[in-house]
Amino acid sequence: MAEKILVAVAWPYANGPLHLGHIAGAYLPADIFARYHRLKGNEVLMVSGSDQHGTPITIKAEQEGKTPAEIAGRYHRDFLESWQGLGISFDLFTTTGTANHAQVTQDIFLTLLKKGYIYKGSMSQPYCPQCKRFLPDRYIEGTCPFCHSTGARGDQCDDCGKPMNPAELVSPRCRLCGTAPQFQDSEHFFLKLSAFQDKLAAWAGEQGQWRPNVYALTQRYLKEGLKDRAITRDIGWGVAVPLEGYEGKRIYVWFEAVIGYLSATKEWAKSRGDGEGWRPFWQDKDTKSYYFIGKDNIPFHTIIWPAMLMGYGGLNLPYDVPANEFLTIEGKKLSTSRNWAVWLPDYLSRYDPDPLRYLLSINMPDTGDTDFSWREFFRRNNDELVATYGNLVNRVLTFVYRNFEGGVPQSGKLDDQSQKLLDKAEETLKNVGELISQCHFKQGAMAAMALAQEANRYLDDKSPWKIIKEDKETAATSLYVALGVISALKTALYPFLPFSSQKLHRMMGFGGTIESDGWKLMLPTGGQKLGEPEPLFTKLDENLVDEETARLGQA
Ligand code: MF3
Ligand code: ZN
Repeated sequence: MAEKILVAVAWPYANGPLHLGHIAGAYLPADIFARYHRLKGNEVLMVSGSDQHGTPITIKAEQEGKTPAEIAGRYHRDFLESWQGLGISFDLFTTTGTANHAQVTQDIFLTLLKKGYIYKGSMSQPYCPQCKRFLPDRYIEGTCPFCHSTGARGDQCDDCGKPMNPAELVSPRCRLCGTAPQFQDSEHFFLKLSAFQDKLAAWAGEQGQWRPNVYALTQRYLKEGLKDRAITRDIGWGVAVPLEGYEGKRIYVWFEAVIGYLSATKEWAKSRGDGEGWRPFWQDKDTKSYYFIGKDNIPFHTIIWPAMLMGYGGLNLPYDVPANEFLTIEGKKLSTSRNWAVWLPDYLSRYDPDPLRYLLSINMPDTGDTDFSWREFFRRNNDELVATYGNLVNRVLTFVYRNFEGGVPQSGKLDDQSQKLLDKAEETLKNVGELISQCHFKQGAMAAMALAQEANRYLDDKSPWKIIKEDKETAATSLYVALGVISALKTALYPFLPFSSQKLHRMMGFGGTIESDGWKLMLPTGGQKLGEPEPLFTKLDENLVDEETARLGQA
């Protein structure tokens, strides 16, 4: 039976291009997962969009002398190009700037208000006497009241990951001019998180499928006790508060961004002419939702969003929140402000997408932080993609193409070793599928590559190129077996390497797309015509290591 699966992916702030931290943290694992489930025949809906609101966008706009809308629009287009280039296969990638999103947000706001889960109160707000303005969360910095790190912002501490209200910061200062802000009272709306404490604790305690870090962090917040949170701000950029008298305020970016998962599903359904088509993904009890996010976003997805959903009622809570850890770059913490980052548009202007997808898969920070280095990129491309997998494919396809009139040879009777290898290919496919469905992406990629190594050893043993003159039938049989394994590899590696898998699919003479064939071993049939073989991957020059490393940290 086909399952329905919602693949919900974090909404990137539209204030700059994507970098490898984003990709390894959320977009690549989500895409691997979605592609696998589509091949399995499951009904997948993968949605996300640009997070257009919040101070990350207004700060950038102020720096560049542009409007927030211009900034958000520019990077939204940039994101769409990056998804295309890297093969991140969203069913819909929208923005939080749509009328639909505002309407869905306001509906949730008003419903929670009516049910008493949102209430009016007053909050003391930082006001900078020097700049003469209220300071939004990210405009103030100070010491984290929880872990005492000194670089905390008014919305969150990056070191311990805890969200906070700006008034909780110790020694706050204006980020624009460094002055200590004064606090002035201002009327705001609060989400009554405290009302959900027990329900959330009971629910979160049952989520044994969550990764240990996600589970533990959520428990920690719950143990400390949930505090109500202000969900409006004194700013002019964002979703309007749907009540008279609040024209100068906007709904807080985090309250509305998470609603994007629901509003995007509704937009997707409407665009297909079926206004009710969102319901199966949010209301069927059997539908599972997976939220792919970086670890800094965990509490928003395991506490705040579930509380909002509980309060609203009738919508599925997250099934899994496979938050990844961080990716460091050349051994150092990624920093966009210091340009210690690899930007996706730059990468895509110089290299193919699959080598990066491969490296970030086999080195994915899914169980702990991992490091990206250009040397490793170079090495894994040349040693693993080109020399192991690419060479296997290339030597088999070119040899078969030349010696069997461009078609798949007829297999004779299989000996033990050959049968074992084909069995192993089937087993690998099954195993990789299970690993992906459990969000063990790194292990999945490793299991698939192990099969390519095994096939190379098999061919070294059988050496069909040496025996073809004396014993064409035996040579044909081992080549046939190798083609079978290659066919398994193109499927097993498809979620990780969609471009080369589709190319291989064509070269092997299969019609249509891999997606329509499903997650199963497709043995080629004798006589099946092959396409003209060409290399799957390109060998890279070692100079790239120095060249690329030198770009890091440059202004
Ligand atoms: N824009 C936020 C960030 O980059 C993430 C938003 S995820 C969402 O940290 F769920 F809130 F949309
Ligand atoms: Zn100031």
